[in-house]
Amino acid sequence: MPKNFIPQDQYFKKAKELGYRARSAFKLAELQDKFHFLKTGLDVLDLGAAPGSWLQYAGKLVGQNATLIGLDLQSIQPIAKNTKTFVVDIFSEEAVKLIQKHHPKPFSVILSDLAPATSGQKELDHSRSLELSRQVVALAERFLAPRGTLVIKVFQGGDFDAFIKELKGQFGRVEIYKPKASRARSFEVYVIARR
Ligand SMILES: C[S@@+](CC[C@H](N)C(=O)[O-])C[C@H]1O[C@@H](n2cnc3c(N)ncnc32)[C@H](O)[C@@H]1O
Repeated sequence: MPKNFIPQDQYFKKAKELGYRARSAFKLAELQDKFHFLKTGLDVLDLGAAPGSWLQYAGKLVGQNATLIGLDLQSIQPIAKNTKTFVVDIFSEEAVKLIQKHHPKPFSVILSDLAPATSGQKELDHSRSLELSRQVVALAERFLAPRGTLVIKVFQGGDFDAFIKELKGQFGRVEIYKPKASRARSFEVYVIARR
């Protein structure tokens, strides 16, 4: 994954060339270049993982001896032997049971690129994104290792600062980053929280 600047309209083409299922892979690559949370051997839980480009990218960095689990409402085409994916709603008890069954140990990295079905109304999409984000934090309380890293996509809006304040109460370090691969007109940012 090159670190060089890629013009917005080139991300899709570049993703295809490199075999990534979505241009979102470049956002994770930028987050990784800045925060270095993916390392060989670390197990990863990816929430909102379809079609699977984050799992593809993360899988390359953590290597074959690590386990990756991806959950989404949509099915994900097989990626690799060490990558298990499940069709499930992250709000369901089924999601918790699946994680416990397939990965009883805590994860070093939990990623969320979850996005609600957007309405085009900024505050509505923001509040739906926060509902997803709070569920991610609840899952991280159960499944993130003590020194683990949590990465969450959030659509900004009126309650964003309050959400960051909540996170700061739970995590030692909380940083906010907007990758260049994220369209300037999009309200999405990524929050990186570490204990
Ligand atoms: C932007 S896409 C993720 C792209 C992914 N990171 C990739 O690189 O391929 C957001 C995903 O969140 C999923 N999603 C939204 N709400 C969900 C929920 N309640 N439970 C599980 N997945 C959900 C959507 O189905 C969608 O696939």
